[in-house]
Amino acid sequence: MSFQTQYGQWALVAGASEGLGACYAEELASRGLNLFLVARRAELLQTLSVHISNTYHVQVKILALDLSLSESIDHILQATNDLEIGLLIYNAALSAVGPFQDTALDAHIKELNTNVQAPLNLTYRLGKRMLAQGHGGIVLMSSLSAFQGSAYISTYAATKAFNIVLAEGLWEEWRTQGVDVLVCVAGAIKTPNYLASEPEKTGGLGDMTLEPAEVVFEALDALGKQPYVIPGRVNRISSFVMRHLLPRKTAIKFMGRILRGMYVK
Ligand SMILES: NC(=O)c1ccc[n+]([C@@H]2O[C@H](COP(=O)([O-])OP(=O)(O)OC[C@H]3O[C@@H](n4cnc5c(N)ncnc54)[C@H](OP(=O)(O)O)[C@@H]3O)[C@@H](O)[C@H]2O)c1
Repeated sequence: MSFQTQYGQWALVAGASEGLGACYAEELASRGLNLFLVARRAELLQTLSVHISNTYHVQVKILALDLSLSESIDHILQATNDLEIGLLIYNAALSAVGPFQDTALDAHIKELNTNVQAPLNLTYRLGKRMLAQGHGGIVLMSSLSAFQGSAYISTYAATKAFNIVLAEGLWEEWRTQGVDVLVCVAGAIKTPNYLASEPEKTGGLGDMTLEPAEVVFEALDALGKQPYVIPGRVNRISSFVMRHLLPRKTAIKFMGRILRGMYVK
């Protein structure tokens, strides 16, 4: 089956206004999918929408809303009711960095809502439509920080662990029903969001930081073939060492040391 037949006619990209999300949108348009783009900043979505529709001659719809609010998901479902959504890319994420107690509890809960509740809700409801139409795909973005406890981004890492396990389970449940599920477990990516978090010292991560396009290509290439992908050869090797060679306690301490250097000023 062609990419367009399996994942068309529309792709919904949640968290599409810049960086990795915008890169997913552009790549999917180049493959002939129409786009439904969601993020909070309407102006960025509007600019991207004009660029993509002029360049790739696909239809692009935008909806500016905050995915941490549960009513936003109802709005998305209503707005896409008449569209055949064949692909969901859940890319949006919030990540507070720094000591756990320095972040307000409300902000931790907002992270939980954006990174867990919203992808769960969209996966459930759009997944139902995809199962009914007999084809589709879902990509959830996760992070290497989710493979063990990660100090100074503890809530973020825990939310991303949820996405790994959810996607793997659904990959097995739905793979014989025409719906492909993939979790993309990424290391550092040069996105505005990552750069804005002002990582001070990356403890060697500098060399491992990928361009958004590299992550998008590897994720879309893996979709339909496997339950998860770790983009970047160095990331695959380092995560193998962290998960399979180091004792878990050592891996947690090692990650903590890197993140302390990056985020504790
Ligand atoms: N960058 C990295 O180093 C890295 C590493 C590992 C994993 N990842 C994962 O890769 C994905 C993208 O990374 P990123 O955040 O760095 O880059 P991004 O794709 O450049 O930005 C995130 C997108 O999500 C949107 N967004 C964030 N919170 C939202 C909310 N509450 N409601 C609606 N839209 C929201 C942002 O737009 P608005 O601000 O306009 O809403 C933006 O378009 C995330 O899932 C992240 O966990 C990133």
